[in-house]
Amino acid sequence: MKTFYIETFGCQMNAHDSEKVVGTLLREGYSQVPDEADAGLILYNTCSIRDKAEQKVFHRLNEYKKMQGEGKKFAVLGCVAQQEGNKIFERAPYVSLVAGSSSYRNLPDMLARLEAGETRITGLDDRQTDETFDTEFTARTNPHRGYITIIEGCDKFCSYCVVPYTRGKERSRTSASVLAEAQRISHSGFTEIQLLGQNVNSYADPSGKRTFAELLAAVGEVQGIQRVRFTTSHPRDFTRDIVDVIDAVPTLCDHVHLPVQSGSTDVLRAMQREYTREWYLERIAWTKAAKRDISLTSDIIVGFPGETDRDFEDTITLLDHVGYDAIYGFKYSPRPNTPAIHMHDSIPEEIKIERLAILNARQREIQRTNYARHLGHTMPIMVEHGANSRGQITGRSTQNKTVNFTCETTPAIGSYIDVRITQIFPSSLVGEAASASVAPSPALLAQQALNARFSAAQ
Ligand code: 5AD
Ligand code: SF4
Repeated sequence: MKTFYIETFGCQMNAHDSEKVVGTLLREGYSQVPDEADAGLILYNTCSIRDKAEQKVFHRLNEYKKMQGEGKKFAVLGCVAQQEGNKIFERAPYVSLVAGSSSYRNLPDMLARLEAGETRITGLDDRQTDETFDTEFTARTNPHRGYITIIEGCDKFCSYCVVPYTRGKERSRTSASVLAEAQRISHSGFTEIQLLGQNVNSYADPSGKRTFAELLAAVGEVQGIQRVRFTTSHPRDFTRDIVDVIDAVPTLCDHVHLPVQSGSTDVLRAMQREYTREWYLERIAWTKAAKRDISLTSDIIVGFPGETDRDFEDTITLLDHVGYDAIYGFKYSPRPNTPAIHMHDSIPEEIKIERLAILNARQREIQRTNYARHLGHTMPIMVEHGANSRGQITGRSTQNKTVNFTCETTPAIGSYIDVRITQIFPSSLVGEAASASVAPSPALLAQQALNARFSAAQ
């Protein structure tokens, strides 16, 4: 029997890539096992966005070393695979397959070569391919959310970022194939869809039929779909019709993740972000002028080469101006192959740490004020986790806020329930159930039962 174990690191794109890889392996006659000790093939889907993520990979690869000699085969997938390529074989000679995400469509062939005993198989397409990794055999392991990649790769080349080198050039799927997948997802019981892309709003329909905003509307109108999310948006390609369509189609979630990276136009220029502070704030103004209360979140890098105190201050004033509901702050981390690696990493680590702490503290204050607007309100929540040790169930609002609440019954994962907000914390809301839950369809429950067989044993 052919068995495999897969471990995934990194972003939602990676999580969803793994769902597609698992689907491909199952179709090729493999079975998934919850314990690496029982697996003939161990796959590791990696992330290299920042230095720490990459170090984790090599740490795990070293642990694999102990399992050599048990007849196991090892595969390294994802961004570290693409970035390090053949060097992985030198560092970890027990690895037989190294493949970046833009070559996954060749996985069946690579698996056949692995089974035939080859030990140095590479899939390193880099920026060569125009093809996307579409498969009808996606194993949907997220219990309540169906992911759909609508655009792969990135053509933006921000000066600090590895993604354009690890995930290849931008290539979009036709809107017809996205909609067909949305319908399949709905039939299998999911009510929430998340459209994925490194720059999801740079989507360019190869059939020329729909703009990104029109695709959002069409997915939002698929029968049975109640929530549509999309991530990540790039400010450069953020057009007004995206705000209009969120206003017009109620199933589109009232949340936009629009990473600014820095509030200083000088730093944005050095980052090659292709917009200024003013350009970004104009898009924020459109979003705030919407009829719906659209929640805004962002990614921010502190300590980019040359970032002065004044530049950093510009980032803090931008936080105050926008009033984000959440940010993900990162210390700049020099990455191989990127243009910024040639700039002097001028900001000392202790200043980066200090700036990150100031940023996060300021953001906490903003959220404390922001979240107060929800106090006493009742909002529909989708249940994501069963009760914790304190009896609190966890779910999410359409704005993507975490809501912990009490409820007399235990609603199923994927069900919807109205919750009245009674308390606010800087990063979450607390409340109590204000309605009976609307249970998910039998199809979704059957899918969850299938997945639980693995997670229970893990
Ligand atoms: N250093 C620090 N943060 C980075 N990001 C991407 N590359 C780097 C880097 N070299 C952050 C950006 C991006 C998020 C996914 O990761 O903020 O939006
Ligand atoms: Fe990286 Fe910039 Fe592309 Fe985002 S847009 S993936 S930060 S290069």
